[in-house]
Formats: sequence, structure tokens, C-alpha cells
Amino acid sequence: MALEVIILAAGKGTRMKSALPKVLHTLAGETLIERVVHTAQQLQPVKIHLVYGHGAELIKKVFSTSSVNLVEQAEQKGTGHAVAQVLPHIDTNNQIVVLYGDVPLLTVDTLKNLISKAEQGFSLLTVNLEHPQGYGRIIRDIDGHIKAIVEHKDATEIQQHIKEVNTGVMCVKGALLAKWLPALSADNSQGEYYLTDIVAMASNEDIPIASDQPKQIFEVEGINDRHQLAKLERIYQHHQAAKLMVAGVTLMDPARFDLRGKLSTGTDVCIDINVIIEGHVTLGNGVSIGPNCVIKNATIGNNVHIYANSLIEDSVIEAECTVGPFARLRPKTHLKPGAKVGNFVEVKKSTIGVGSKVNHLSYIGDTTIGSHANIGAGTITCNYDGVNKFQTEIADGAFIGSNSSLIAPVKIGKNATVGAGSAINKDVPDGTLSVARGKQVNIDTWQRPVKKP
Ligand code: UD1
Ligand code: CA
Repeated sequence: MALEVIILAAGKGTRMKSALPKVLHTLAGETLIERVVHTAQQLQPVKIHLVYGHGAELIKKVFSTSSVNLVEQAEQKGTGHAVAQVLPHIDTNNQIVVLYGDVPLLTVDTLKNLISKAEQGFSLLTVNLEHPQGYGRIIRDIDGHIKAIVEHKDATEIQQHIKEVNTGVMCVKGALLAKWLPALSADNSQGEYYLTDIVAMASNEDIPIASDQPKQIFEVEGINDRHQLAKLERIYQHHQAAKLMVAGVTLMDPARFDLRGKLSTGTDVCIDINVIIEGHVTLGNGVSIGPNCVIKNATIGNNVHIYANSLIEDSVIEAECTVGPFARLRPKTHLKPGAKVGNFVEVKKSTIGVGSKVNHLSYIGDTTIGSHANIGAGTITCNYDGVNKFQTEIADGAFIGSNSSLIAPVKIGKNATVGAGSAINKDVPDGTLSVARGKQVNIDTWQRPVKKP
């Protein structure tokens, strides 16, 4: 049976104390709401409806190019009222899954199990909690059939002892929702239209309500404040770290590793402490990453060593290169096999050829360096005249003396040498030595000043 998903996300999230709507806070680098949408997409529904309210403009912006159907709930009158806003958009022949924008870690497996149990029309995801305060309680008869959900605030003292609670996640036939939702009343302690009241309606009509539980409790934990956000972030990071270790990656300390995106790894990868991986990163065989590195959207080849405190973004690093410590590779950096970028070197939009070295204290921007060139300490490519950017080309085998400025646009020829301290603004032909600096003068008559009495 075809599926539609409704995601509720109209609430403000007052306890976040934030200008951002709660569901636009991020977990592992992705907004809560996009996480839920991505989970929903994996169920291959015919439609995803997102009920929004607070932070409308920001939420619309996030989904401006997506196929998610945005449905406004201008006033938040309860979960039943929220789902009712979507009724005109659904095909009542479809199975409807209800999810929550602030419950980010629900797994696709759990949802598939729940959906498979809804063949009779209705299934609920429940969970047993040691401390069920605040949640709706699942009321069962002596045969174990679900009869109703009673919200904490409406529960009797005896009902409050029930530990099985409503996660809010459910799968219901569209036709049943269409029948029940208009019949909800707000006659309860909070004056809200409770979605949970449809459970008693189903029971009254003898429609069996199946239930299922998630494998792990964190899957159904919602986020209301920054404490809960941090807690779920850690749980999630712990799980990702565990998966990587199972896949053969050495993490020097799995508690000090953060993955905010997707990481694929070869064999014998070793990652030291406090490394942050963002976006899409691929690490080849035998790659080692030193402590305190941040790597975002990068492809890193076999046997590359990244030393401590390096930042790498939108870069390609081919096999056998070494980077850092304290290197910064900015977007569109390409290191060819065996290249070396050492400490306090910044590289931007540049290619460094096979076996070439930029080992110390340099800025290389908008530059192409051939193979086996040596760029001396403190070399700066002056790529910017204050208005426009220009290219520097350094050919194979060139040697740039320390503390040189290469004023772009400029070309340094094959096997050319630049004397230390030069400011080069004209092309240097192949094989020549170019020296462009003030000549040294030794003055033997000079005397040091003496201190006045
Ligand atoms: C709800 C359930 C409760 C369950 C709990 C699990 C109801 C009546 N109660 O309670 O049984 O144990 O979730 O966390 O459903 N929302 C809207 N529009 C509204 C109201 C809520 O979009 O008008 C969204 C909120 O943004 C939130 C979600 O629905 O993401 C849940 O709403 P909330 O008010 O937190 O429900 P609970 O009282 O926690
Ligand atoms: Ca809640």
C-alpha cells in the first residue's frame, strides 16, 4: 500500500531559548528537521507533508527546492489539529505515518516494522520508560489490547504508574484519520486537540491497534532543550564511532571523534583524538590523521599522513602526501601524489605537483606547481592586487628561495631558481637564476650609536 508521511514541526521550542525554531538546530551537522525528512524519504513515500508554524520563513527557505509539501498550522492547537491541517492533501487510500520534527534519530528499520504491523489499519510505536513523566500513557485491557492513550496531565494517579508510553509515532490508514480527526474535541486539561484521542475511537470501533517498540530508546527521544540536544548528539556520535571501529578504523578515543556527514574509509585508517569530519570525506588505505584536525569534503588517497592541527576543506589529496602540522588547505586545493605541505602553510585554489614541497610558512593561492619543485620557507604568491586575482605558475623542478614574493601573474620556468628574498614580478625563463632584491652593502666605517650620558 502506498505511503504518505506527515511530520509535525509547528511548535516553537521555547526551552531552546533560541531565535531559531527548534527543528533548525543541528545534530551531527544536519538540522533536526532535515534528518527526519531524510529518514522519511528512505521509506519511499508518495508524499511527505511538513506541518510548520513557528519560524515559518526560515523553514520555507530550507525546503524551498525540495518536494516536501509544506502545510502551515498558523496556531498550534494540538497534535490532532496539526495532522488535521494535512487532511485535504492526503489520498485517503494511503497509509499515513506520523513523525515529529524534534525526534531526529528514529531509524528506518523501526519505521518499516511499525508500518508492516499496520495492515489492520493502525499501529503505534510505544516504549517502556523508567520515568514516564510527561508522556501519554498506553492504556491496555486485561487481554493486552490497546484501549486508549491518556496524556500525563489528564491521567489518574493509577494511570500515572503505567510505564508504557506513547512515542507519538504511528501508522494509520488515511480513511480512518479522515473519519476521526474532525470528531476530536479539545475538552481536556490543556484545551488541545489531541491526536492520541483517535486511539480510543479506534478501540470503540473494534479496530485492532498493533504496537511495536524501537530497538533502542534514544530513537524515540525528542529534543526540547539544549541539554537533550547535546545528549542525543553524543549518543549518535558514539554509534557512528562504533560503526567505524567495526569497519576496521582505529579511533584513538571514540569519545573524542565527531562525524558530521559521511565518511568512507579504506583499511588501516588511524584517527587521533579531537578530529572533526564534515560533509563527504573519503580516506584511502593506511591514512593517518593527527589530533585536532578538521576535514570537510575531501578525498584523501592511500598512505597520506595528516599531522596535528590541520584544516582541510574541499580538497583532493592524492596518495603518499603529507600535510601539516598546522596546515590549512582551503577549497580547490589539489595535492598530486607524494606532495608535501608543511607547517604554517596555507594553500587555496592551487595544484601542487608530484613530489613537490611547500614545507614552511607559505601562502600559495591561485597557483599551479609542477612536479618536484621546492618552495622555500616563507614564499608568498601575491595573487591579489586589491581588486583582482591573478595566477602564478611554477614549472617542474623549480626552486624558490626562502622569503620570496611571487607577484602574479607570473611564471617561473622549468628548473629555474629564485634567489632568497626576491620579489619577482617578471617571468623567469627555464633553467635561469633570478635574483630580485636590494644588493648587500658592507660599510666598514660605520659606528654604533652610543648612549647619551
Ligand atoms: C505528545 C503526545 C504524547 C507523547 C509525546 C511524545 C499528544 C496529545 N501527545 O505529547 O502522548 O507521549 O508527544 O513525545 O499527541 N506540534 C505541532 N502542532 C501543535 C502541537 C504540536 O506541530 O499544535 C508538534 C510539536 O512541534 C512537536 C510535536 O508536535 O514536535 C509534539 O508536540 P508536543 O506538544 O510536544 O506534545 P507532547 O505534549 O509532548
Ligand atoms: Ca514533546
